[in-house]
Amino acid sequence: MAASESAPLTGRRIRVAVIGTGAIARDSHLPALARLAEEGETELVAAVDVDPGSVESFCAVAGGAPRPYTDLDRMLREQSPDLVTICTPPTLHRGQSVAALRAGAWVWCEKPPVPSLADFDAVEAEEGKDGGPYASIVFQHRFGSGTRHVRRLLAERAMGRPLVAHCQTTWYRDTAYYAVPWRGRWQTEGGGPAMGHGIHQMDLLLDLLGPWSEVRAMAGRLVHDVETEDVSTALVRFANGAMATVVNSVLSPDEVSRIRIDCERATVELTHLYGHSNDNWRITPARDVPAADAARWQDFGTDLPSSHLEQLRELVASMYAGERPRSSGAEGRTSLELIAALYKSAFTDATVRAGEIGPGDPFYAAMHGGALGWAPGGGGQVDGGEGAVADEEAAA
Ligand SMILES: NC(=O)c1ccc[n+]([C@@H]2O[C@H](COP(=O)([O-])OP(=O)(O)OC[C@H]3O[C@@H](n4cnc5c(N)ncnc54)[C@H](O)[C@@H]3O)[C@@H](O)[C@H]2O)c1
Repeated sequence: MAASESAPLTGRRIRVAVIGTGAIARDSHLPALARLAEEGETELVAAVDVDPGSVESFCAVAGGAPRPYTDLDRMLREQSPDLVTICTPPTLHRGQSVAALRAGAWVWCEKPPVPSLADFDAVEAEEGKDGGPYASIVFQHRFGSGTRHVRRLLAERAMGRPLVAHCQTTWYRDTAYYAVPWRGRWQTEGGGPAMGHGIHQMDLLLDLLGPWSEVRAMAGRLVHDVETEDVSTALVRFANGAMATVVNSVLSPDEVSRIRIDCERATVELTHLYGHSNDNWRITPARDVPAADAARWQDFGTDLPSSHLEQLRELVASMYAGERPRSSGAEGRTSLELIAALYKSAFTDATVRAGEIGPGDPFYAAMHGGALGWAPGGGGQVDGGEGAVADEEAAA
């Protein structure tokens, strides 16, 4: 079934509902929505959570104006929101995104988008054809003044061709972190640090460097008693010829998120942990670069840190314009495809090329690909994911 038609947005505020009223909804979605409400762009009309106490306290913190619901379908029927922001655990994202699109709402769904490429394509199939509604993914590191400046310099080839890159998510998670039952399991967490932690840096690397073409990877379970990996490394070649190393770890006491890109005329480096502002970026020109060029590269403009607010602002502008937002469709899918390829390469000991994981490939239906020693229960055949899909839709 295709998405139902949305009401025109001209001359009015965008009516928003938040699904899942836990940590990220409170810490990031609510402040961003409050700011855009002050600016006259949005209006928070409803929130949904299976936990009545959580949704009621969320609505109270939000000023009491949004109506609390424990049933998503009922909320969609009664409120007809223009935009639904999804802040629930990843296994629910597919069913809830589909329900919202079918009700005519645009979707802004937390990362990781969905547990598999099959799930992603199923959500995309429900988008409107012209003018939305569209489903986009929260990848807030792509937004803000630093990324915008460096993306433009790279697109213009101002610093020459990008040649060599490093993409590092080296974080630390202890045994207590993995004692929570849903963590470290394919079914509930969707994957290990590649999927749950490193996805932001890999997504940003792809946003800066463009499409990747091939991956060779390794994954390990070095410390934690988990089903997924706790570390992965990959070599990635890009369509533009650049070559990158990628490390995703939860075993690294000195935590850092880092991207470094060596271009012909300069090295660009981003060093931060969970978010960045202009000060986190450094551009080191090659010795023979004229001072005027180097000075222009250092001008990042007014500091707009990466944030949910910056992404939501662009999404709202896309909604008013009736245009596909950034971080949706093929652009929203690219890091998920890279992660599927990373797992396939690591678990099958093969080079994986962009575009090769399609319907029929076990890594299309599930990130573990049914691989021996990695899939739940030790490994075996993957059934195409249809059973899992039905479960998620019922759960939504
Ligand atoms: N963008 C980021 O930087 C970032 C940071 C942290 C978390 N996240 C993502 O946000 C999502 C949520 O993470 P969190 O840390 O807020 O989790 P959380 O556990 O704090 O909150 C999840 C909420 O969803 C509710 N919920 C569960 N099932 C539901 C259902 N069927 N319908 C409605 N509500 C339901 C829970 O009751 C809970 O209140 C995850 O996908 C996570 O990866 C993103």
